[in-house]
Amino acid sequence: MSHLQSFSTTRRLPWTTVVLLAGVMAVVWSPKANADTAQLQTLLQRNNCTACHLIDKRKYGPNLNEVAGRYAGQAGAVAMLATKIRAGGSGVWGEDMMPPQPNVSEADARTLAELILALKP
Ligand code: HEC
Repeated sequence: MSHLQSFSTTRRLPWTTVVLLAGVMAVVWSPKANADTAQLQTLLQRNNCTACHLIDKRKYGPNLNEVAGRYAGQAGAVAMLATKIRAGGSGVWGEDMMPPQPNVSEADARTLAELILALKP
């Protein structure tokens, strides 16, 4: 009996290893975008951007995935968008006007710009 038990233990080991590895890989490989998207979502809600913007759908303002696509790889895009987030404006995505958002701190505006540009459309 005892040798049977040790046999079944060794047979079980690979499974445990696989499950463990899968867990580790899920944590290590889960796209960083997920964590960032959660942070972006929180900031968008806190600053009332969600009244007009969704990450993956057009609402009153442009879909933020599309914003990321438009400026992908452009130097200075973070600073430009951070400024626009606080100043508002129109004419880039149509005639609709984004009103100024003076209550958004400069730090939040910059983080928002970075996180929006980090979206993978
Ligand atoms: C009242 C509606 C409204 C609110 C609130 C709003 N936006 Fe906008 N947003 C717009 C519109 C409309 C545009 C398109 C402006 C344009 O075409 O230039 C826009 C454009 C943008 C763009 C793209 C700018 C560009 O030049 O391509 C970003 C980024 C953005 N908004 C982020 C934000 C963030 C972050 C917030 C919250 C702090 C926010 N918006 C709040 C309506 C809004």
